[in-house]
Amino acid sequence: MQATQLPEKKPIALVTGASRGIGAGIASRLAREGYHVILNYGSNEEKARELQTRIRAEGGAADLCQFNVADSAQVNEKFEWIAKTFGRLSVLVNNAGITIDGLLIRMKDEDLEKVLSVDLKGAIYCTRAAANQMMRERKGSIIQISSVIGEMGNAGQSAYSAAKAGLIGFSKSVAKELASRQVRVNVVTPGFIVTDMTGVLTEAQKEDILRTVPLGFLGEPEDIASLVSFLASPASRYITGQVIGVNGGMYM
Ligand code: NAI
Repeated sequence: MQATQLPEKKPIALVTGASRGIGAGIASRLAREGYHVILNYGSNEEKARELQTRIRAEGGAADLCQFNVADSAQVNEKFEWIAKTFGRLSVLVNNAGITIDGLLIRMKDEDLEKVLSVDLKGAIYCTRAAANQMMRERKGSIIQISSVIGEMGNAGQSAYSAAKAGLIGFSKSVAKELASRQVRVNVVTPGFIVTDMTGVLTEAQKEDILRTVPLGFLGEPEDIASLVSFLASPASRYITGQVIGVNGGMYM
């Protein structure tokens, strides 16, 4: 955790799990659009630093902040550090996530706990800490990266889908709580996006998925970043409590 760059008068956007995949795509995009992005990572400092260097080389502002989203004490401490060091958050993107797949009857308690802790509780802890700052500013945009699996379910992903569906209900409630302070909360539900998370699938599995995507191709992090960028901006000022799919038509 280092503040190596003087804070600029740019709105602050925190992206969790930003070191790779969709999070890295979102962070790069927000940096290009003039945000000072805070890149959260859990353990991969090297990758996070590479992204920071790339963003800075393109003229953007980026700093690193290590914490485990599933640890509420760490989350509270680091959010306070961010506010003191750079200013209060304007945008939070809860992107950090994990999958531990398997059929329900073989599900281990510790795997269920891990998935719920990162994918659901982690997003809740970060949303709570950000809401505190944004309510005082009377503005802010919180964007949850859920999943199409939270909407339509998937055999072998019941824990993941419980966490991602839980995030949708949570976000609608919080959108109602925070609306009077002009803090918006929206949910993005990606379909199949090519990243390390989906890299573990076999070619045959990918072909099966492709057959369920009406647009006929797999998505990329930039497809998610485009929507996040819109939801972060004042162009979406009248949108809150919504669940928006970016899935090639896989689920309508
Ligand atoms: P990824 O595995 O490439 O990236 C996830 C990031 O979260 C990693 O940087 C990882 O280090 C970080 N992370 C994991 N646990 C953490 C923790 N406890 N604290 C802080 N950071 C942590 O995955 P990908 O594909 O980029 O996914 C990003 C988000 O999009 C996830 O929430 C995922 O569930 C969601 N998603 C992805 C889809 C896909 O097809 N790739 C589809 C639907 C949703």
